[in-house]
Amino acid sequence: MPKGIFITGTDTGVGKTFIACGLAALLRDFGYRVGVMKPAESGCTERDGQLFPEDAVLLKKASGCEVPLDKICAYQLREPLAPSVAAERQNITIDIEKLIDTYNEISSSHDFTLVEGAGGLMVPLLPSYTYADFARVLKLPLVVVAANRLGMINHLLLTLEHARCKGLRVLGYVLNQVESELSLAAGINREALATLTAVPCAGEFSYFAGSETDEIGGLNWFADRFDLRRIESVLKQ
Ligand SMILES: Nc1ncnc2c1ncn2[C@@H]1O[C@H](COP(=O)(O)OP(=O)(O)O)[C@@H](O)[C@H]1O
Ligand SMILES: [Mg+2]
Repeated sequence: MPKGIFITGTDTGVGKTFIACGLAALLRDFGYRVGVMKPAESGCTERDGQLFPEDAVLLKKASGCEVPLDKICAYQLREPLAPSVAAERQNITIDIEKLIDTYNEISSSHDFTLVEGAGGLMVPLLPSYTYADFARVLKLPLVVVAANRLGMINHLLLTLEHARCKGLRVLGYVLNQVESELSLAAGINREALATLTAVPCAGEFSYFAGSETDEIGGLNWFADRFDLRRIESVLKQ
């Protein structure tokens, strides 16, 4: 049985890392040993002559996961492109078997493991292999993060529909307001979704004005908004 979840989203920049870090920090605070993985990260900039996988670093920090960074994120890619394309252009071959072994290793030494995708569910990890295929092979249920703005209903429903087509279980979706201005759509979307999908909402996040989710204030803020009952089936493994 899975001891983890796969965090995907309706797009890039919708808050997958933000929500994953909040959840990692919260579960860590409850005493869980939290593992994290960001199998491939593209758009890594260079720091001190080395590529810097920012998401993986944030996930590691929030979770306290002691796995080395190059295992948490095995494929650190330079160009801001889908991982399969960025890897090809960097002459790197993404080895799915290796990623599966790494996931098994991380999840076997932690109570709960969070795996963050890149972009959305249909982003390719290999030229004809997407994150949906990867989540399926890991047997991980999904939490889908959706940017709560105009257009979200369509993006979210398409993602949920694709998850269904691929036989993926979705534990819940998270509505996340990434812009500081509350749009008319953002205030109304949740209600509209209730009649459009049977998948439950796992949380609704307003724009967070603080700096870091792992500070106590941020942790309480997160805890008040994330419905842990949605991931209870995984936490109780
Ligand atoms: N609810 C929120 N309030 C404030 N800032 C947010 C919120 N959600 C995400 N962000 C910020 O938006 C940016 C994109 O979020 P991120 O988690 O990196 O997206 P993704 O992982 O989906 O690409 C980051 O700078 C993040 O800190
Ligand atoms: Mg991210």
